[in-house]
Amino acid sequence: MSKTAIITGGSRGIGKAMSEKLGELGYNVVINYRSDSSKALSEKIASEISAKYKVETLVVRADVSKYADCEQLVDAAVKKFGDNIDVLVNNAGITNNSNWIDITHEAYESVIATNLMSALHMTHLVLPHMINHSSKDSQCVIVNTSSVGGMTGVINQADYCASKSGLIGLTRALALEFAGRGVRVNAIAPGMIMTDMLRGVNQDELKALAGTIPEGFIGDVSDIAGALGYILTAPYVTGQVISPNGGFVLQ
Ligand SMILES: NC(=O)c1ccc[n+]([C@@H]2O[C@H](COP(=O)([O-])OP(=O)(O)OC[C@H]3O[C@@H](n4cnc5c(N)ncnc54)[C@H](OP(=O)(O)O)[C@@H]3O)[C@@H](O)[C@H]2O)c1
Repeated sequence: MSKTAIITGGSRGIGKAMSEKLGELGYNVVINYRSDSSKALSEKIASEISAKYKVETLVVRADVSKYADCEQLVDAAVKKFGDNIDVLVNNAGITNNSNWIDITHEAYESVIATNLMSALHMTHLVLPHMINHSSKDSQCVIVNTSSVGGMTGVINQADYCASKSGLIGLTRALALEFAGRGVRVNAIAPGMIMTDMLRGVNQDELKALAGTIPEGFIGDVSDIAGALGYILTAPYVTGQVISPNGGFVLQ
């Protein structure tokens, strides 16, 4: 029987690579995006995945920081693929780069709503469509995209780090709550990965930061898609934070 995966923020960067991995693993993929400018991009990825892996895809615009939009996203997935959802990847994320004096409350509320509240909303809405069919032999999986920022601190990213630490807490608590009921919950905490998110920051600062990575280079989206592939095929792994980071958090 075909299986269904939903990924938030699947239009670009890490999310695009993870959408492709889901297709490669045989899931029908529901790709979410938010910006009008990403509509065509998301539709192109979806049709490429369908053609390459012979799975079905659905593209849904939703601002996952809002509960009502998350409801629409899950409803659209269930309408197209049925009541059983097998995988949820909470990947949508944004960042600010501001000191804690000058930042506005609107800016940090937006980061918390997009990065953390979205995962609370989506897990709340999707879990009923998982526990209705999950079992030890037919597991469902939730994967939250955290960050090394959620494991350490990053200067001028207090809101981002708080959101990403929050995702780790959510991961561990839900993993315990649903252990033995066929639902595994894990997090991926990427180190520095070259995407639009990194292209948007000061490139001199980025170069200096990259020099502090023990492996000596910035990672690729395939490193994170690979971690997703591992988690999805590792039935004994739950409540874990897998962190492809070039040794970043060892220092
Ligand atoms: N790149 C890194 O070094 C790095 C390191 C650690 C963790 N991460 C995490 O990895 C995830 C992906 O990051 P990325 O580097 O691939 O970033 P990106 O290239 O900027 O992509 C961000 C994705 O999130 C989506 N998104 C943002 N706000 C949304 C909202 N309210 N509703 C729905 N979708 C929304 C975007 O959709 P649109 O295309 O529609 O805007 C896009 O698909 C994020 O959670 C990020 O925090 C990244």
